[in-house]
Amino acid sequence: MRPALSDYRHLASGKVRELYRVDDKHLLFVATDRISAFDYVLDSTIPDKGRILTAMSVFFFDFVEAPNHLAGPADDPRIPDEVLGRALVVRELQMLPVECVARGYLTGSGLLDYQKTGKLCGIPLPPGLVEASKFSTPLFTPATKAELGQHDENIPFARVIEMLGAVRANQLRDRTLQIYVQAADHALRRGIIIADTKFEFGIDAHDNLVLADEVFTPDSSRYWPADEYRAGVVQTSFDKQFVRNWLTSPESGWDRAGSVPPPPLPQSIIDATRARYIEAYERISGRSFDDWIGPRA
Ligand SMILES: Nc1ncnc2c1ncn2[C@@H]1O[C@H](COP(=O)(O)OP(=O)(O)OP(=O)(O)O)[C@@H](O)[C@H]1O
Ligand SMILES: [Mg+2]
Repeated sequence: MRPALSDYRHLASGKVRELYRVDDKHLLFVATDRISAFDYVLDSTIPDKGRILTAMSVFFFDFVEAPNHLAGPADDPRIPDEVLGRALVVRELQMLPVECVARGYLTGSGLLDYQKTGKLCGIPLPPGLVEASKFSTPLFTPATKAELGQHDENIPFARVIEMLGAVRANQLRDRTLQIYVQAADHALRRGIIIADTKFEFGIDAHDNLVLADEVFTPDSSRYWPADEYRAGVVQTSFDKQFVRNWLTSPESGWDRAGSVPPPPLPQSIIDATRARYIEAYERISGRSFDDWIGPRA
């Protein structure tokens, strides 16, 4: 008999995930169907999103060559029925206080920093770069985790050395770039650009560096359709395109500049977005989402 979710102590709620304690060495990560856009968690959910993103994370944990925090398979007997397919049992680690970001393209906070300073996390960049420019080589652009509701703050590599020492800092940078390149090359062959991504690492009892949190989900990465890529313009988001387009269209009646949260999504937008997540998973993994475990939403 599988345990019930209520058998585990609830530790924390993120924007889209819930964290529970399994025992003194293990945690349960549950990915919900919540979706965020324009810094709001929307009232509407995308059915199966949590299962699809869990499937993606598992695919990439297996695919990349780096020790990770998974403590068992996606059908681990410690996972309650009610969250089967959207939950993972992980080893509890001592988390490092650095958000390890790898960027292959210039956009978002990276573009803002570049426009202000000509640099990104202290790294001097050539002049003339534009929105979505591809870097000649991927960059490690660390950040510190912000307090709730704030954006993460980009920091120079020298700051990571101050925080963690040169040996660990170099290891973090090298590991981050190695994992990013491996996954991004693969995704590109399947028609998806992973423009950038964020990892979190922790340290285990033997002082090993372990890849934690979620990996290469569209929530922790920017996914762009490769066949539409064009430098100089804001790229379409592979997963949130329909949501963002609808929210910014007159149809939604939503004022993005105002302080009112977005309205609920129409069913057609929910369905199209769900299909997009499944398409991304199936294209990248080469697997069918029908074969993924757990109850369908
Ligand atoms: N193996 C692990 N051991 C211990 N803590 C972990 C492990 N993997 C991830 N974490 C931590 O678990 C927490 C997961 O929280 P989650 O990402 O759901 O919410 P959040 O980071 O507070 O908010 P957000 O929704 O903005 O991501 C993070 O603080 C992360 O650093
Ligand atoms: Mg998080």
